Amino acid sequence: MLNIKEGLQIVGLGHYTPKHVVTNDDLAKLVDTNDEWITTRTGIKRRHFMEEGETNRSLAKRAAEMAIADAGISVDEIGCLILATVHPDTMTPSVACMLQKELGIPEYTPCFDINAACSGFMYGVSIARGMLLQSDKPYALVIGSETLSKVMDMTDRSTCILFGDGAGAAIVKLSDDHAYYKVLGSRGNDQCLTIPNSGDKRYVSMNGGDVFKFAVSTVPRTVEELIEMSGHAAEEIDWYVCHQANKRIIENVAKRIGVSLDRFYMNLEEYGNTSSASIPIALSEMNQKGLLKEGMKIIAVGFGGGLTWGGAYLEF
Ligand code: UT7
Repeated sequence: MLNIKEGLQIVGLGHYTPKHVVTNDDLAKLVDTNDEWITTRTGIKRRHFMEEGETNRSLAKRAAEMAIADAGISVDEIGCLILATVHPDTMTPSVACMLQKELGIPEYTPCFDINAACSGFMYGVSIARGMLLQSDKPYALVIGSETLSKVMDMTDRSTCILFGDGAGAAIVKLSDDHAYYKVLGSRGNDQCLTIPNSGDKRYVSMNGGDVFKFAVSTVPRTVEELIEMSGHAAEEIDWYVCHQANKRIIENVAKRIGVSLDRFYMNLEEYGNTSSASIPIALSEMNQKGLLKEGMKIIAVGFGGGLTWGGAYLEF
């Protein structure tokens, strides 16, 4: 029997970041930079890099197991697994397929990777909703998992200070009692942020200034669109969770929306930019800290390479 419910609820959250912590001072030994520049220009103090033996799949698995346990569900109840990443372990098989086997999710479950760069998790949640509308299973597992340290040019000070590794996961279900509004967009652009998969330089390359300008115009607009769709006022939203790329971008959004910066959850100081993993890691941390209470209204917005952007209004 198909579901006809309209909204979406997050019922479980999990995250995992590698134990190996790289500080700004550590990076200052590799490139011409310093803690003061990185802190004032980005807000980042530390990031976590994978250790020997860790893979995109192993990070994602830890996050997924935590989300499944948090939701208190059985893997037999999962109707799809969507994993967002810009750097899968292999182009095929997908990380999602291999994770299906490791987690024991039954066959006849669609499992696949998507790439919408740093907006990937928000795209994944929207796709999951569409999949659940066609599923006889109640839950979807949506993961953002990134191993960016593997595609970092550690001689390029303009990028190597920004990114980190990690994974975040959510279990979502359809719900008539939890409103869900989304905004997704993309604009073909191969100049701002790229990771080639051929040639000698398979590293992240970014025009930071252009991405910054894109972010400070697109993110506030997306937030405003979601506020309008929700029918609430900006100050009625309990939490804003933006992609954790740069503290100055988040400050800019808060100012534009006219909401106190306290409502914007930030953990980029600890993890740097973990691309598609940053929003689910933030949500899971908030959940762990008891910051997410039943009935709370949340707006989450991602943005990044593509260029892409994706946001949602969610009720906890
Ligand atoms: O998840 C994908 C989304 N990505 C983003 O959101 C990134 C958005 N962009 C940004 O966050 C910022 O543009 C950056 C943090 C990447 C750069 O900050 P900025 O204020 O735009 O600096 P800039 O690129 O304009 O560089 C200013 C100066 C330059 O030196 P000159 O030309 O003025 O002499 C850079 O060479 O800072 C220099 N610089 C650095 N200095 C010390 C660039 N990187 C560094 C560094 N340490 N790590």
